[in-house]
Amino acid sequence: MQNEQRQLHWQHVYQSKGEHDVSWFQDTPAPSLDMMAAIGVTPAASVIDIGGGASRLVDHLIERGLRNVTVLDLSDAALAAAKARLGERASRAEWIVADVTQWEPMMAYDVWHDRAALHFLTDEADRAAYLARLRRALKAGGHAIIATFALDGPARCSGLPVVRYSPDSLLRTLGSGFTLVASRTHVHATPWGSTQSFQFSAFRFGN
Ligand SMILES: C[S@@+](CC[C@H](N)C(=O)[O-])C[C@H]1O[C@@H](n2cnc3c(N)ncnc32)[C@H](O)[C@@H]1O
Repeated sequence: MQNEQRQLHWQHVYQSKGEHDVSWFQDTPAPSLDMMAAIGVTPAASVIDIGGGASRLVDHLIERGLRNVTVLDLSDAALAAAKARLGERASRAEWIVADVTQWEPMMAYDVWHDRAALHFLTDEADRAAYLARLRRALKAGGHAIIATFALDGPARCSGLPVVRYSPDSLLRTLGSGFTLVASRTHVHATPWGSTQSFQFSAFRFGN
């Protein structure tokens, strides 16, 4: 998918649907928070949520006292929805409108979190661009938490094809320098009651 088409697709989704009208809505991002607990995230950690959309993860991280939280998404409508929900607390986070495959990171983070963004990158060149940003934007000793549809999960989401992963296939995709430190499966219940099988994995980067 071309970057421009991708941006138009997601902008349209967030302009035309409310928070509860998208299959990926979660009231509480419990599996992500569990993975952060598993890797020992503290309030001092810098965290970036890649493809964070209008997710409530940022609300929970701010609530837990994290003061260095960034949300990146290619849809400014998604980020506007999250900021409107947060009100004045939105100023406690950084917001970046960018396609992760073209983004130029300005700093390195302790934690890279991605729930259901990487799996939309079905082209090898896009995945390579994502991985190059991941390597630049993670501190040595930092962690990537990546959630995707599992091998028994749906083949499509939001009308788009996805790549399904196991923790091991994701580790192979990330390549050298990453160690799998935790993983779990999660059955997500959509707002309309269907279920989707996810895998959540945490990888340590470098030494
Ligand atoms: C299925 S939604 C998940 C949103 C959020 N992570 C959550 O858990 O609620 C996928 C998100 O990834 C964003 N996205 C898709 N491709 C992207 C890309 N190449 N760069 C940045 N964001 C992207 C979309 O705009 C959308 O917000």
